[in-house]
Amino acid sequence: MRTQVGIVGAGPAGLLLSHLLHLEGIDSVVLEDRSRAYVESRVRAGVLEQGTVELLTDTGLGDRLHRESLVHRGLELRFDGEGHRIDLSALTGGRTITIYGQQEVVKDLIAARERDGGTVLFEVSDVAVDGLTSDRPTIAYTHDGRAHTLECDVVAGCDGFHGICRAAIPAGERTEYDRTYPFGWLGILARVGPSSDELVYTNHERGFSLLSVRSPEVCRMYLQCAPDEDIGAWSDERIWEELHTRTATRNGGFTLREGPIFEKGVAALRSFVCEPMQYGRLFLAGDAAHIVPATGAKGLNLAVADVRRLAEGLAQLFSGQGSDLLEHYSETCLRRVWRVQHFSWWMTSMLHRFGDDPYQHRLQIAELQYVTSSTAAATTLAENYVGLPL
Ligand code: APR
Ligand code: PHB
Repeated sequence: MRTQVGIVGAGPAGLLLSHLLHLEGIDSVVLEDRSRAYVESRVRAGVLEQGTVELLTDTGLGDRLHRESLVHRGLELRFDGEGHRIDLSALTGGRTITIYGQQEVVKDLIAARERDGGTVLFEVSDVAVDGLTSDRPTIAYTHDGRAHTLECDVVAGCDGFHGICRAAIPAGERTEYDRTYPFGWLGILARVGPSSDELVYTNHERGFSLLSVRSPEVCRMYLQCAPDEDIGAWSDERIWEELHTRTATRNGGFTLREGPIFEKGVAALRSFVCEPMQYGRLFLAGDAAHIVPATGAKGLNLAVADVRRLAEGLAQLFSGQGSDLLEHYSETCLRRVWRVQHFSWWMTSMLHRFGDDPYQHRLQIAELQYVTSSTAAATTLAENYVGLPL
C-alpha cells in the first residue's frame, strides 16, 4: 500500500493530523494497535485551550464540542482552607478554557475521518518503521492476520509515550530529558453535578486534589497518591472522605457533593522530552515526544500544537513550496514544549505534597499567596493556562 503520510497512532495527535492533511488534499493512513472501542473510551484529561478549540472549530470539528462542552472563565486555587479565584479571562483579554473530555475529541475525529473517507486501521500489530533516512520510508504491520507494508513519503510518530516510533531514532541521535514525581493521581468519574462553578486546585498537607467536571451530571476528581498506589485499597467511601478532608474550607462554606463513582484509576506523573522531534522522514508529535504532568492540563493541547505545525510543514512540502517549515519543525515545537514543561512542573511543584518537609510546604504557601494576590503573578498563570498564542 502507498500513501503520502503514514501515521502511527490514533490518539488525538494522529487523528487530528490525518484530518488536517485531508483538508489540504494530502493522503494519509492511520495505524492503531488498539480497537476503536478502546480508543474511544480511554478516559484522559478534559481541558481545551482557546487555541485548540479555535483550531477544531475552524476545521469543522466544533459542532458537538460547542453543544456539549462547558466554558470556564476562571479557576480556583485553594490552600490553608481558603479558596482564591484566578480570573483567567480578565487577565488574558477575555480568553477562556473549555471542558470537553479527550475521548469526546477522539470520537469526533474518528467520525470525521470516517465521514471524509479516511483510512484508520484499528487493531493492527507488529508495527515497525524502516527506511527513515531514505526518500521512501515504510511501515510494516499485521492486520486481519496478514502482513502488510505501507510505503510513505513521510512517517508521523503519534504513537504516544509507549509507542515504537521514538525508539526508531538511533539512541545516539536523540537526547531524552526525564523527571518522575514521587506521587501519582487517583482519578474518579462520578455521576454527580459539580460542587463548584470552576475547577478547584487544592494544596493540602495531606496532598493535592483537583475538582474537575465533564458535564452538568458527571464530575472528574483527582487525589494525590503514591505513584504505585493500589486502587483496590480505595473504597468509594474512603475516596469521598479524603476528598471532603482536602477540599474543606475553614469557613465551612463549601459542600462537596457525592454521587456514584463509575470509573477510578491511578496514573503516575512524569515530565519527559525527546530531542529532536524529527529524524530523517520521521516526525514525532504529542506524547511520543513529550509528557507533562496533568497539573497544567497541557498534554492534549501540546499534541494539538505539534500537529498544527506538522500539518503546515507537510502542506508546504506537498504543494512544492519547499521544506523550511519541516526543517524547523523540531526546534519550533521544542520552544513551546519547554515553555509548557516549565509551566506544568511549576504548577505541580506549587500544589503537591513532597514528603514531610515543612519548609517546602511554607514555600508553597508563600508562592500561592503571591500568585493569588499579585496581578503580575496571576497573569503568568492565567496566560499559560488558557494557552499562549500558537
Ligand atoms: N502501533 C500502533 N499504535 C500504537 C502503537 C503501535 N506500536 N503504540 C501505541 N499506539 C497507539 C496507542 O494505542 C494510542 O491510541 O498510539 C496512540 C497514542 O495516543 P496518545 O497516547 O493519546 O497520544 P497523543 O495522540 O500524542 O495524545 C496526547 O494523550 O495521554 C494523553 O495527556 C496526553 O492528552 C495527551 C494526549
Ligand atoms: C480533567 O478534567 O481531567 C483535568 C482538568 C485539569 C487538569 C487535569 C485534568 O489539570
